[in-house]
Amino acid sequence: MEIVNSINELKSYLAELKRDNKTVGLVPTMGALHDGHLSLVHRCVNENDVCVVSVFVNPTQFNDKHDLETYPRTLEADCALLESAGCDFVFAPSVEEMYPEPDTRVFHLGRVAEVMEGAKRPGHFNGVAQVVSKLFYIVEPDNAYFGEKDFQQIAVIRAMVKQLNIPVRIHACPIVREADGLALSSRNTRLTPELRQKAPLIACTLKESTTFVPEKSVQEVIDFVVNKINSDPDMEVEYYEIVDGNTLESIKSWADTDYPVGCITVYCGEVRLIDNIKYK
Ligand code: PAF
Repeated sequence: MEIVNSINELKSYLAELKRDNKTVGLVPTMGALHDGHLSLVHRCVNENDVCVVSVFVNPTQFNDKHDLETYPRTLEADCALLESAGCDFVFAPSVEEMYPEPDTRVFHLGRVAEVMEGAKRPGHFNGVAQVVSKLFYIVEPDNAYFGEKDFQQIAVIRAMVKQLNIPVRIHACPIVREADGLALSSRNTRLTPELRQKAPLIACTLKESTTFVPEKSVQEVIDFVVNKINSDPDMEVEYYEIVDGNTLESIKSWADTDYPVGCITVYCGEVRLIDNIKYK
C-alpha cells in the first residue's frame, strides 16, 4: 500500500494502472476510521482492481470552527487498518494541496441539498460537493462508495455527479451498527460513557417505529419517535422527517412514496448524531 500526499504523484500512479485497463474504486473519508468505513473499503477492494481511500478532513464542509478543530485525526492508525483491509493507495493530501486557492464554486443542487441537513448546516453540502468533485477529478474512479448513515449526502453527491456529468458509479452501502444498534460514527468517541449508554435509544426508537406502519399515520410515527427520544433529558431531537428516499421531499401519507425513509438528527448531550431508517 502506498501513502500519497501529492495529487500529481497519485495521478501518475493511477494513469499507469488505467493504461493497463485496471478499474479504480474510491472511498472518500475524513479518517478516524471505524468498521463502517472498513465495510466500504472491503466492497471497494472486492469490486475493483485498484482501491483508493482518501483521508482528508475537509475544512470547507464544516460550518462550526470548533467541530473542525476537534475532529479526530488518526492517520497512522487509519493507515494500519487500511493496509490490512487490502487498500492499494491512501490519498492523504494537505489542505494546501487540495485548496491552493480558495474554492469559490457555489453548487445549486436543488431541494436534496436544501432540506434537513442542508437547512441546519448552511454551506455544509456545498463543501462536500467541492471536495468530492475534486476527488473525482483527481482519481477519476469507476466506482465510489459512501455509507448510508449520511443518507442525504449520497443524494447530494448523486445530484452533483449528474449535474457535472462525472462518469462514476455511486454505491450506497448499508449502515454498520454496534451490537446495541448505535450507528457507527467517528463522533461516537466524543460521547461520555453515560451518554454512550443512552445513544442507542435513537436506533431502538427508529426500529420500534417501523412496527407501527402502516396502521399509524406518518405524523403519528414522527410524534412517537420525537417524544420517546426527547423523554430522555440528555437527548434532544433537532429534526425528524419521513421523506421520499429519492427526492427527500417530506411525505404526508405512506401512499406518497414506495421508498419512505426517516432521517433524524439528535443532540446527545453536546454530540450531534444522525441516523435513518427505511420504512419499506
Ligand atoms: O462522509 C464524509 O466523511 C465526508 O463528508 C466526505 C464524503 C469524505 C467528504 O469530505
